[in-house]
Amino acid sequence: MKTFYITTPLYYINAQPHLGHTYTTLVADCLSRYKRMQGYDVCFLTGTDEHGQNIERAADSQGVSPQVLANQNTEAYRRLWSQFDIKYDSFIRTTDDHHYAAASQIFKRAFDNGYIYKGEYAGWYCIPCNLFASEADIAPNCEVCNRPTERVVEESYFFKLSAFQDRLLDLYQKKPDFINPSFRRNEVINFVSSGLKDLSVSRTSVTWGIPVPLSGNHVIYVWFDALVGYLSGIGFGDPKRQEEFKKFWPAQVHLVGKDIIRFHSVYWPAFLLAAGIEIPFKVYAHGWWLQDETKMSKSRGNVVDPIQLLDHFGGDAIRYFVLREISFGADGNFSYDALIQRINSDLANDFGNLVSRTLKLVSKAFGKTFPEFSDLVIADKERELQGQVTLTIKYYEEYMNKLAFSKALEVIWNLLSQVNKYITDSAPWKMIDDESQRTHLATILLTSTEIIRIVTVLLSPILPGSCSKVWNQLGIQEKLDKQRIDKLEWGNVVGGCTLGKIEPVFPRLDKKSIIKKLVGPLGANDGKKKITSGEKVTMSKDTPLAKESGSSDIARIKIEDFTKIDLRVGQVISAEKVKGTDRLLKLLVDLGTENRQIIAGIAQSYKEEDLVGKKIVVVFNLQPRKMRGLDSNGMLLAASIGEDENPVLATFSEEVPNGARLK
Ligand code: MSP
Repeated sequence: MKTFYITTPLYYINAQPHLGHTYTTLVADCLSRYKRMQGYDVCFLTGTDEHGQNIERAADSQGVSPQVLANQNTEAYRRLWSQFDIKYDSFIRTTDDHHYAAASQIFKRAFDNGYIYKGEYAGWYCIPCNLFASEADIAPNCEVCNRPTERVVEESYFFKLSAFQDRLLDLYQKKPDFINPSFRRNEVINFVSSGLKDLSVSRTSVTWGIPVPLSGNHVIYVWFDALVGYLSGIGFGDPKRQEEFKKFWPAQVHLVGKDIIRFHSVYWPAFLLAAGIEIPFKVYAHGWWLQDETKMSKSRGNVVDPIQLLDHFGGDAIRYFVLREISFGADGNFSYDALIQRINSDLANDFGNLVSRTLKLVSKAFGKTFPEFSDLVIADKERELQGQVTLTIKYYEEYMNKLAFSKALEVIWNLLSQVNKYITDSAPWKMIDDESQRTHLATILLTSTEIIRIVTVLLSPILPGSCSKVWNQLGIQEKLDKQRIDKLEWGNVVGGCTLGKIEPVFPRLDKKSIIKKLVGPLGANDGKKKITSGEKVTMSKDTPLAKESGSSDIARIKIEDFTKIDLRVGQVISAEKVKGTDRLLKLLVDLGTENRQIIAGIAQSYKEEDLVGKKIVVVFNLQPRKMRGLDSNGMLLAASIGEDENPVLATFSEEVPNGARLK
């Protein structure tokens, strides 16, 4: 049996998953279901990247150990994947024992083959991306995420990347399909052609990692460690799973975001060549989901929460939307408008409605069981539709094989629109009570049902839950997930099947009410009530503070004075009581470019857990000061109704990125 090994990146566990991570995993799930339908023995791997300085720091700021943070967030990933009906075959954690063995072994092999040597690294490093930056006198911003880099000077093992320049260029030339889409291939070729420097592959200032097998005080560079996860995930490093490894390696495709293409198409093949292991067939880099034209990311605070999407729209609708809305490889802006439009028009109208009106007519005309007609009158219209079905299957496969999901869905929707037109034009509802039209009526309804059956199979990798509901309504005994595309041909399959309960599979959504629910109740706060997480507050002219004073006797300042104050959007990462006080909280606030500790007198208004994740306004250029012996670097803005009243934090009713300036 042909095998197909597909991977997602291993996700960092310093934060909860957002739509960007969900995207890659949904695509991988859809592709692996499709490959199974083509008859492949599939292994779909996902997992978590749990070592490194970014995790160490995140754990520190939350006052937990990296392992505890890793355990919590790995669970969040697993839970989310199961809520989206994502069926992976293997989940690798880089803290798994056999992964340790695998990473050490690959490191050792590269060393033994003469590709690793000891030296000293002096340069810049981006902690969130775990990327070494180019040389510069002052800290450059990271070329991927644009955040400031930090200085690193330490003893390090180096990987002789420079020795692989020609072999890599040769690889890109001989296997033009290795890097996808093709424009990314050109970017990578330019990068490699401009000269490769040796790469630092161990750290001594980080302890949270896999020890270098040659020396006690080094840990393996986190990208070296994590990439090996693609091997350990299918058994490398575990003596009992060698057969599995041999069966699936090399991977058919590594799905990655465009920001990590270099790690996968330059470093990874070089590490593998150095260790004497075959390289994967393909790396495919997709684009980013953007919000307001910027990359959705936790640090910018503009992420779309996949749980919220699930609650309001269900997993299938999201799966469909992300695959249909943007062509795989390109960036796309996320919008609720577009999502609701797709649900109502494509899913509820074009597909859902076709299913329910066809099956309702079948049940009205023939009762619960489909008739087995041998005397259908197949005319030109039906023959044309049959031809369309054959073409649809062909193009669908061609596009799916190229990972052009949006195109594959487009061809299905073309077919759906033709069937819908066929039903409308032939008006079968007018024939229900006319005995003389019985065969004609059966022809129309069975033609439509047959197309529904075939479309349901084709859509099942993208809409698994909904398609299985449609399948049950069709009453076909053979299981949907046992269907094979190469066996999918026109035939009277439903003849004799007994219909299941006919129910709408994609209910239409009322845009206004759903947007209202998503945005939350906007209203004035009376200044007395404690604010809990999830609630949003805006000031209206009726709030006591707004009424308080007239404007004639206030001392006015010039605009130049105001612009001296640098106000920025921050997001609370953690909050804890300052010991020995009732009023003070110690907050860690993410300001986009940096995290700061701020001591704030708001303990009587807010519980610590209600503050985490909250967007606030911070006076960014206030001189740091000590409060109760603790550094406070900045100040929060809050409104107080009166002397004895508890302050209410200024916040935002709409999404706004961390670090944005208030002007
Ligand atoms: N841990 C590394 C990967 C190691 S693989 C051996 C990593 N992790 S990550 O959690 O930061 O990112 C994982 C993936 O999520 C990347 O492919 C990245 O491109 C993707 N996304 C993160 N934000 C995204 C969007 N806003 N849109 C689409 N995908 C993006 O990198």
